[in-house]
Amino acid sequence: MSSATNTQDKVWSVLELLRWTTSYFEEKGVDTARLDAECLLADALGIERLRLYIEFEKPVTPDERDRYRGLVRRRADERMPVALLLGKKEFWSLPLEVTSDVLVPRPETETLVEAALQATTEGPLEILDLGTGSGAVALALAKERPEARITASDVSAAALDVARRNAEKLELGSSLEFCCGDAFEPVAGRHFDVIVSNPPYLAESEATELAPELSHEPKQALFAGPEGTELLRRIAEEAGSLLNPGGWLGVELAPHQAETMMGWLLEAGFEDVIVHRDLTDRARVVSGRRPRTGG
Ligand SMILES: C[S@@+](CC[C@H](N)C(=O)[O-])C[C@H]1O[C@@H](n2cnc3c(N)ncnc32)[C@H](O)[C@@H]1O
Repeated sequence: MSSATNTQDKVWSVLELLRWTTSYFEEKGVDTARLDAECLLADALGIERLRLYIEFEKPVTPDERDRYRGLVRRRADERMPVALLLGKKEFWSLPLEVTSDVLVPRPETETLVEAALQATTEGPLEILDLGTGSGAVALALAKERPEARITASDVSAAALDVARRNAEKLELGSSLEFCCGDAFEPVAGRHFDVIVSNPPYLAESEATELAPELSHEPKQALFAGPEGTELLRRIAEEAGSLLNPGGWLGVELAPHQAETMMGWLLEAGFEDVIVHRDLTDRARVVSGRRPRTGG
């Protein structure tokens, strides 16, 4: 694969390329070396990843190898995430477009979708997804709750363009409304049955310790003040006034922030305040309800 003359003319099979790239990625410190090699090679060959397994012996053409080499280089040298190299990521079984204007949807965010589905039943719900990014959470809920009216908001107009394109491609656009602005500002005066949010929750002080891949995602999708809690706190303080009585709020956060967030929600008058764990058993979502009466 390298430019050394003795490897230039060699005909590489799928399996040989995968083996070579896996050890190259490992040397470069890429965590998911084999999986990433498979995803990139499948893309360069224009086939599904699992098909590689029945084409291990297939020779790779020079054009295919050139395409692959470009992807491998950017993954190893620039530490560009695979999803951004390919421009796509699956979330809740929905194929989503992703660009450097949005956070790449993470599997743990499916915990937020699951919690919202558990908390609701089918019907004409008004749902707000605050900080929608690629639209991942809003679109998953639109798929599962087709009668709901969903407002997807974000402070980034560029992210909203990606979310709109995803909604159109998935033919889910008719149940979604998009609005741009800071936190609850664009929906001031409105009321919702459900508010979901996966806000930025990393501390700015952590920035230098983070995986290099994160440098390719928008800072405003990742960081929220010195402790990472700026938006979490605003959500806890302001969401109650936008929820209908009995309305439900679910917020994704870092595991170590769960207790603090629970305290803020209780202070703000929420009840049924609980933690939802992700597939790795870490506290990932905190939810609560606005009381039906009083508060
Ligand atoms: C962690 S990303 C989540 C994206 C998407 N919901 C997901 O789960 O993949 C946070 C999103 O919140 C947006 N955001 C950051 N600060 C905001 C603010 N003050 N008001 C509204 N949205 C904000 C960012 O632009 C980003 O799209």
